[in-house]
Amino acid sequence: MAGESDMIANLANLSALIYMRLPDVNWAGFYLLQKDQLVLGPFQGKPACIRIPLGTGVCGTAAKTGLAQCIYDVHEFTGHIACDAQSNSEAVLPFYHQGKLWGVMDLDSPSVGRFDQDDMNGLQVLVDLLQEAVG
Ligand code: SME
Repeated sequence: MAGESDMIANLANLSALIYMRLPDVNWAGFYLLQKDQLVLGPFQGKPACIRIPLGTGVCGTAAKTGLAQCIYDVHEFTGHIACDAQSNSEAVLPFYHQGKLWGVMDLDSPSVGRFDQDDMNGLQVLVDLLQEAVG
């Protein structure tokens, strides 16, 4: 991403990199904020739901609150949106462009409890690099 300011290009490569290199992940990608909805962006994995209202599901909750979500078991999360029936845990991190919420990074895993604080810290480093690159 260094020296590349195009948001979509960076999101596309970042989703491919995460999906390729992070074990036990069945979906990795981005939803982008459009008005009061998240709309599907670049991703790797099975086709997913396209529009998520703010405040709905894990992604919509991260976008509405601005807080990263590390969900041990998605079936315990009220309102979870099941795009891939194989997903059992999920990590979602909001990201910003020029001080405004731009969207969320979303990772799914078939394993319960796949993501821990170390994962969240590492993913936040990637989000920080993305935000820096698109400036
Ligand atoms: N599970 C998400 C929806 C997106 S898919 O996981 C790709 C949610 O509850 O917001």
